[in-house]
Amino acid sequence: MNGYESHGVHDLAHDLPTPVVEAPTPTGRWRDLLGATLRPAVLRALRNWQTGRLTVHLPDGTVHAVGEAGAEPHATLRVARDAFFADFVLRGDIGAGESYMAGDWSTDDLPGFIELALLNQQAVGRDDSWITALMNVPNDIGHWLRKNTRQGSRRNIRRHYDLSNDLFALFLDPSMTYSAAVFDSPGEDLTRAQERKFARFGEALRLGPADHVLEIGCGWGAFALYAARTYGCRVTGITISREQLDLATSRVAAAGLGDRVDIRLCDYRDVTGAFDKIVSIEMLEAVGREHWPVFFATCDERLRPGGLVGIQTISMPDHRFEAYARHCDWIQKYIFPGGLLPSISELCRTMAAGTRFTLRRVDDIAPHYATTLARWRATFFLRVDAVRALGFDDRFIRMWDFYLATCEAAFRTRFLGTLQLVVGRAGERPVP
Ligand SMILES: C[S@@+](CC[C@H](N)C(=O)[O-])C[C@H]1O[C@@H](n2cnc3c(N)ncnc32)[C@H](O)[C@@H]1O
Repeated sequence: MNGYESHGVHDLAHDLPTPVVEAPTPTGRWRDLLGATLRPAVLRALRNWQTGRLTVHLPDGTVHAVGEAGAEPHATLRVARDAFFADFVLRGDIGAGESYMAGDWSTDDLPGFIELALLNQQAVGRDDSWITALMNVPNDIGHWLRKNTRQGSRRNIRRHYDLSNDLFALFLDPSMTYSAAVFDSPGEDLTRAQERKFARFGEALRLGPADHVLEIGCGWGAFALYAARTYGCRVTGITISREQLDLATSRVAAAGLGDRVDIRLCDYRDVTGAFDKIVSIEMLEAVGREHWPVFFATCDERLRPGGLVGIQTISMPDHRFEAYARHCDWIQKYIFPGGLLPSISELCRTMAAGTRFTLRRVDDIAPHYATTLARWRATFFLRVDAVRALGFDDRFIRMWDFYLATCEAAFRTRFLGTLQLVVGRAGERPVP
């Protein structure tokens, strides 16, 4: 599966004009000074580099290489301002991401560089220190305040999904599926790979014309349309994004599936009715730890006897979950406010505490997510002029670049998983 990665994206992103480094503000000058002071310590730590090779170009024109000569993978890091060292040392991934957004550093291969950084994280001793924790307290407080109450969820979701349907249409495949696809060959068309993902759920849940399916977090309606068309089932899809509701509703009408697909603006906590099957694809990440019990209780209440639930979710490895859940990270601050990735143990514990749900099937499709993200990023940069024409500035483009590249690297190195789960109640005969 690792051979499915698309590498064309790197050149495309690299061909972009080099970010203009803004003239340092007074605080910027202080960060530069502090960064220049911290720089020797960072370069010393880099000597412990173990995997691959990194060439570092510094603002003073000097070049440093770490790792064995000729080792692969290789990436080049160009530091335009010493402030980068201060941001990275003092504020970890949030600092590194913010200084990328500011144009303080660049690289020939962003996903490749982040992959190397993740693989060498322990060697260079960049596990979060007390100073990083202290500096990021305001970010932790901000994250803590972005709670996923009904109103909070609407606010959090608006910040991402209501950015602009046109923006998402520019880099997603035409079905506008916003979750990991499942590829069967390296060059497979993304829409086909998305349909394969849907078909896996269709088969695992044994969808058929007699089923009424609830889809929690239906996005722009891709799965609902596919399931109604392919299996003849009825689908009620819910989203809390008004932009998604509008587009999904018109897509359903255009497909002539209005009699079978119903898209609603509805929080998962407010769904009524009974359903034969429930599907939720990459929505659980937006629920929040304190609301997981309500999420599963809702599925339990809404699912008819003998029914099945199919869930796809990005996951945090169990051994890192507690440390991760304690602090805000760059993705939570800039991309998915209020988001929290579950670990498989936490999910099983939550289900066991409040329901009779047990796992029937678990697959980790993380490498396929790396490929999906590489495709999204390649398409994003192919159409970057159209992104600008929508009014998104260079800082936003670098932010989106960092988002897509970080996720790609995390899935490729398996720092994150992508779980496909099938869940049913213990002690029940499945509906034939
Ligand atoms: C990453 S998108 C996935 C969309 C779709 N499943 C797909 O694969 O293309 C997450 C979806 O979850 C929805 N969502 C998030 N929080 C929700 C909530 N509290 N109630 C209902 N839907 C929610 C969002 O509106 C969005 O449609």
